[in-house]
Amino acid sequence: MADEPGSAADPNLGKVVVTQAELEARIAELGEQLTADYEGRAPLLVGVLKGAFVFMSDLARAIRLPLEFDFMAVSSYGSATKTSGVVRIVKDLDLDLTGRHVLLVEDIVDSGLTLSYLRRNLAARGPATLEVCALLVKDGLQRSDPELRYVGFTIPPEFVVGYGLDVAERYRNLPYVCAYVGDTGTGTLQG
Ligand code: IMP
Ligand code: MG
Repeated sequence: MADEPGSAADPNLGKVVVTQAELEARIAELGEQLTADYEGRAPLLVGVLKGAFVFMSDLARAIRLPLEFDFMAVSSYGSATKTSGVVRIVKDLDLDLTGRHVLLVEDIVDSGLTLSYLRRNLAARGPATLEVCALLVKDGLQRSDPELRYVGFTIPPEFVVGYGLDVAERYRNLPYVCAYVGDTGTGTLQG
């Protein structure tokens, strides 16, 4: 890990939780599964900014179907590492979801509060189907059952960064997921 870009000698970064090779292999599997499950349809991938952008980019290229894309950005007020569950839409979708096969792509599910809010919000827009694909799910912390159909990895309940995930906008470009062991402030969590 010491040789990886961005992490060399960074005392805030702890152990690697999901390696680059593990990400690649699992995303290839998810792509195969989604290609089979959505055969004959053109799903609409909805990415939750900002954290999901790296995962969504790799996942989309592993799906061999005609795809469309849209993005939304949400902000949930809380500390830098814990959400309160009060979610605000910062950027809404451009496309109409009516009759679409929507796949919501999330970076990480921690308490599950952000996801359950998004599910309810998107379901109200009349999609033909609505499923969720989350790269990471933190073990045991979900307060509500978000009905996650597609999950990349279940990880221990510690704060992680990399592969889209940040602390104060840093570390999103790490090509793997690792523990963050430095200080976190307070403020607004934005994707
Ligand atoms: P929730 O607790 O499931 O509502 O998670 C809300 C949001 O907090 C996620 O979509 C992420 O953007 C962020 N988040 C939760 N856990 C982590 C983490 O370990 N690292 C970075 N961001 C996180
Ligand atoms: Mg964040």
